[in-house]
Amino acid sequence: MARAIVYTEIGSPAVLHLMEIPDPVAARGEVVVRIEAAGANPIDAKLRSGKRPSPPITEPRPVGFDGAGVVELLGEGVDDLAVGDRVAIRDGVGTYASAIAIAAEKLAKLPDSVTMAEGAAIGIPAGTAYQALRSLGVTAGDVLLVHAGSGSVGQAAVQFAVAWGATVIATASPARHDQLRELGAIPVAYGDGLLDRVRAAAPSPVTVVLDGAGTDEAIETSLALVADRDRIATIVRGPDAASFGIRAFSGGSPVPLTEQELAWRAEALPKTIELLDTGDFTIELGPQLPLAEAAQAHELMESGAASGKIILVP
Ligand SMILES: NC(=O)c1ccc[n+]([C@@H]2O[C@H](COP(=O)([O-])OP(=O)(O)OC[C@H]3O[C@@H](n4cnc5c(N)ncnc54)[C@H](OP(=O)(O)O)[C@@H]3O)[C@@H](O)[C@H]2O)c1
Repeated sequence: MARAIVYTEIGSPAVLHLMEIPDPVAARGEVVVRIEAAGANPIDAKLRSGKRPSPPITEPRPVGFDGAGVVELLGEGVDDLAVGDRVAIRDGVGTYASAIAIAAEKLAKLPDSVTMAEGAAIGIPAGTAYQALRSLGVTAGDVLLVHAGSGSVGQAAVQFAVAWGATVIATASPARHDQLRELGAIPVAYGDGLLDRVRAAAPSPVTVVLDGAGTDEAIETSLALVADRDRIATIVRGPDAASFGIRAFSGGSPVPLTEQELAWRAEALPKTIELLDTGDFTIELGPQLPLAEAAQAHELMESGAASGKIILVP
């Protein structure tokens, strides 16, 4: 039997529990991956708590989209992977598990230089950052403001944008500023007076914004800085982004991601692995907890008490 974290009702982290499930089988085009690390993302907690609406629960609902592990079984028609390959997973259904079946196209091979925990920390954060920056057309010469620059998405966005030649200003609590400087960003503390601090820190006017904070302060500051609303995007305030005239990439937006945007999210996985392999990208890892402690992982994530990507280990 395999083991998976599931929930049968919306609620606090306590609704998460470990369950035995039949060993997954690989259908055509799929492989079975033995999970060695699962990355916890805020969306996992938003779905569990009901902050992000979802269809009624009719059977135990699996948790988690990101992970990494070892290929254990190959379905028919899979010829670019082999049993024993180390892989990172994006867009999995229920990566908080000891094993899952998943379409081979959602996997990317991990070189030995990239750890399982790093592999499990790429799918959503780097995918979202990369797609959002590509959609916004961030390029050399831009001055990009990243709200929540110290978060998993924020740090990925900082690194991509710096690599593409943009100047990046990133908001974070002061304890994270040195780390953001190391990634090449100009750090600014969020909170009262943010607009003035960003203006003072920016070597030239901000031209484009990625909001990963979703606060009124982040939205208002962005609107005050950048006149062209097409160059302001939020990944958090999807439901009301349109009322500000700004763009939203999901985050509860009624506008689905385009084929191109989905393709960019997919493309980010192998690209980020390549950058990790060459030492041109870093991932801040946080606490690693046993799979059975998924509830504690969600508590930590929702309290904001831990910095770095929280990883569950089956
Ligand atoms: N739309 C999408 O497809 C998509 C994809 C991924 C994530 N998201 C959403 O994007 C958000 C960030 O995700 P993540 O994975 O990067 O989260 P994360 O790693 O948990 O980071 C959250 C960050 O928020 C920062 N923060 C807390 N309060 C803040 C405030 N008042 N102003 C500005 N920043 C503040 C924290 O900064 P300090 O630690 O420095 O205080 C922390 O770095 C979440 O809401 C998530 O649900 C959306």
